[in-house]
Amino acid sequence: MPASYSCLMSRWSDLAGKASGEDYAARFADLARSGKNVHGEAGFCAALVPTGARVLDAGCGTGRVMIRLAELGYECVGVDLDASMLAVARKQAPGLPWFQLDLAEFEPALVGVAEGFDLVVAAGNIFPLLAPGTEAAVTERLSAALRPGGLLVAGFGLDEAHLPVPPGLTLSDYDDFCAGAGLTLVDRFATWDADPYDDGGYAVSVHRR
Ligand SMILES: C[S@@+](CC[C@H](N)C(=O)[O-])C[C@H]1O[C@@H](n2cnc3c(N)ncnc32)[C@H](O)[C@@H]1O
Repeated sequence: MPASYSCLMSRWSDLAGKASGEDYAARFADLARSGKNVHGEAGFCAALVPTGARVLDAGCGTGRVMIRLAELGYECVGVDLDASMLAVARKQAPGLPWFQLDLAEFEPALVGVAEGFDLVVAAGNIFPLLAPGTEAAVTERLSAALRPGGLLVAGFGLDEAHLPVPPGLTLSDYDDFCAGAGLTLVDRFATWDADPYDDGGYAVSVHRR
């Protein structure tokens, strides 16, 4: 068991506690029933890489994004620390590969992948929810998991209105972590519908290795 399981809990685990999976899935099921598009992230990624591309869902949670990407024909792997979130993912899509791993220690060999991923998606405030101090390590691990030319796509809130935890991580911090990990910013949007970024409280960033 990686050391991180015992001592490096994420901000997410502090926030959600042990029984987060069913509640999280129920919230999105309610949103879907009310007519909201809960597949914006998957649609955004599908516009960036061709069908069949290898995708890592980093912090996959209940599999909301990855299950949709798999339905669209992508070869996906999901990684998350939270057992209760992964239990929902496994129940909803037992045939897909889900792994309980810490992104700060991630390497493709741990999930049986020899070549790099074409795209890594970190949707749902993954970076602001990481254990404090692990952001640079996670960015490095995700960058190293990409093939040269592969894309890291991360969407997260920057202010109180867009985050379930107190804001801390800035875009400038995130870009610095990415630059340190050999990643270059190629695009930034305000939403998963690719609205132009306007210095607002939410950003979807696309970096290339
Ligand atoms: C708000 S959920 C987002 C889930 C999913 N990506 C989505 O958009 O529906 C944030 C997830 O990040 C995961 N997470 C936080 N730190 C992590 C880490 N170090 N390694 C793996 N997963 C982590 C949490 O366990 C949680 O499932």
